[in-house]
Amino acid sequence: MILVTGALGQIGVDLVERLERMHGPENVIATDLRARQPKVGLNGRFDHLDVTDRDELDRILDAKKITTVYHLAGILSAKGEEKPDLCWRVNINGLKSVLSAAQKRGLKVFWPSSIAVFGHNTPRDDTPQSAVTDPSTMYGITKVMGELLCRYYAERYSVDIRSIRFPGIISYNAPPGGGTTDFAVDMFFQALESGTYECFVAPKTRLPMMYMDDAVKSVIDLMAAKSKHITVRTSYNVTAFSFSAEELVAVIRKYVSEFECTYRPDFRQEIADTWPRTIDDSTARRDWNWKPEFDLHAMARDMLENVSRAVGTPSPTSSVSRHK
Ligand code: NAD
Ligand code: SER
Repeated sequence: MILVTGALGQIGVDLVERLERMHGPENVIATDLRARQPKVGLNGRFDHLDVTDRDELDRILDAKKITTVYHLAGILSAKGEEKPDLCWRVNINGLKSVLSAAQKRGLKVFWPSSIAVFGHNTPRDDTPQSAVTDPSTMYGITKVMGELLCRYYAERYSVDIRSIRFPGIISYNAPPGGGTTDFAVDMFFQALESGTYECFVAPKTRLPMMYMDDAVKSVIDLMAAKSKHITVRTSYNVTAFSFSAEELVAVIRKYVSEFECTYRPDFRQEIADTWPRTIDDSTARRDWNWKPEFDLHAMARDMLENVSRAVGTPSPTSSVSRHK
């Protein structure tokens, strides 16, 4: 039986849908602090769970005979700077509870880290797997501590915990929850809904990104890999492509020619400036054959088709040739 925490979030909604297809809806329990929202997916089993409440976590793990946990509940980078205490409580105490519960019950665990573990002293291009991690945000600090906790529980107690350092994730089913990379999602919705977007990072800001289909695939592939192939028990670098804000505008304009983007960088610019521009994910490629399927153009096309369906506008991709 599978438990997913933070299941109503941007990644949770898509991951739960995939897990339900793979294992059957009756074998996946989606949980979140928030109540289930009718508009956002998740048709299977759902329960309330606050991951900072250890008793509630223990109760649900035992009552549902859970064997695997996908621990997604978390506070992201921008929200974490606004609410650093909450960020620490949810990201650190929540993870620590899951790991210690996993140790007692022999559970297998997936937990996502982030490119936010990197900082000012990290090489920003082709950032290596073992690059220095010296984040300047509370979110990044919780992710570094989280990675170390994961490795500690794996080495000391043999907990089978696997982790990925996600770049910015782009998707359309559930809105992003307060990160620095949210502009990449917002831009698609605003391009189709209003034709204009005020971007909160500067045009040349380049960050590593990934389409949700590949993010979900990476989780499934990593969890399916043989334990002997997992050489990294902190967290694996993974990436699909990188773009600057103005490059994304140019790609969207191929389909929505009247789209206008203005730029007003805010505090999220400073966060983005400490993160890698591109990532070296060769260790994940070697250990568990990681390989993304969507490049920037395939992602943009698919996003525009799906976002236009979601907001009720005609798809701009149908009138533009695939090779343009
Ligand atoms: P999100 O903000 O969209 O969703 C997080 C979910 O956690 C929300 O539904 C929220 O209600 C829930 N939550 C918050 N506090 C909780 C608590 N105390 N108990 C239970 N649930 C709680 O985030 P996401 O984008 O889906 O991210 C999921 C995980 O992936 C996080 O750990 C995040 O750091 C990581 N990640 C995401 C990205 C990205 O671009 N989306 C990139 C790197 C890492
Ligand atoms: N997308 C996430 C954020 O911006 C990266 O962890 O916070």
